[in-house]
Amino acid sequence: MSLPLLYDFPDHFETERLLIRVPRAGDAVIFHTAATESYAELRPWIPWAAKPIQLQDNEAFVRRAAAKFIMREDLVFLMFRKEDGLLVGGIGLHRIDWNVPKFEIGYWLRTSMHGKGYMVEAVNGMTRFTFDMLHAERIEIRCDDRNEKSAAVARRTGYTLEGCLRNDGRDVDGNLRSTLVFSMLRGEYKG
Ligand SMILES: CC(C)(COP(=O)(O)OP(=O)(O)OC[C@H]1O[C@@H](n2cnc3c(N)ncnc32)[C@H](O)[C@@H]1OP(=O)(O)O)[C@@H](O)C(=O)NCCC(=O)NCCS
Repeated sequence: MSLPLLYDFPDHFETERLLIRVPRAGDAVIFHTAATESYAELRPWIPWAAKPIQLQDNEAFVRRAAAKFIMREDLVFLMFRKEDGLLVGGIGLHRIDWNVPKFEIGYWLRTSMHGKGYMVEAVNGMTRFTFDMLHAERIEIRCDDRNEKSAAVARRTGYTLEGCLRNDGRDVDGNLRSTLVFSMLRGEYKG
């Protein structure tokens, strides 16, 4: 795709229990509450949670995310429970190569929403969105090889483990870490 900026696709989609939409100016307060509540669980695995973030930084984050969505550079979404509008977590498409096209799904849940199947539901929805609306040929899920909960989401949503990139980075405490790479190809998608 030569000019992704001109490519039209929706800025939201729904799953059974969730409304998943692009962040907007003013979302920082709800984002801040969810991220602060979940800090201890996010810190080991999520780069932006490596240190506590200020409310003002969160407002900059949501506005930057809205701008990057329009530029088709990075596609971040927030997940809201339809029943009451609660911010459940976030999911996004990163490391985009529109030429293939290929994407990497990243995700996090607020701690009080763990263990209810919301992330499996959201990843299934995002997989459908990415193959159907963005014409993906390949979607990846990458996670630290110690992040069992994240690897379980990839497995439960039908992604195939391709391998482990050994010692390809350092964790938040500076220790060497390895990355599991899961993927799904268009031909494997059972939408
Ligand atoms: C990774 C993460 C999103 C996984 O959260 P999770 O709650 O395990 O995932 P889900 O929302 O899909 O819930 C699955 C769990 O809910 C249970 N569940 C309950 N009701 C369910 C339902 N209606 N449907 C499906 N599963 C349900 C499942 O049995 C499963 O529990 P188990 O793992 O004890 O067997 C979460 O641990 C997290 O945010 N971690 C920090 C950030 C992070 O690591 N992100 C990934 C970076 S690569």
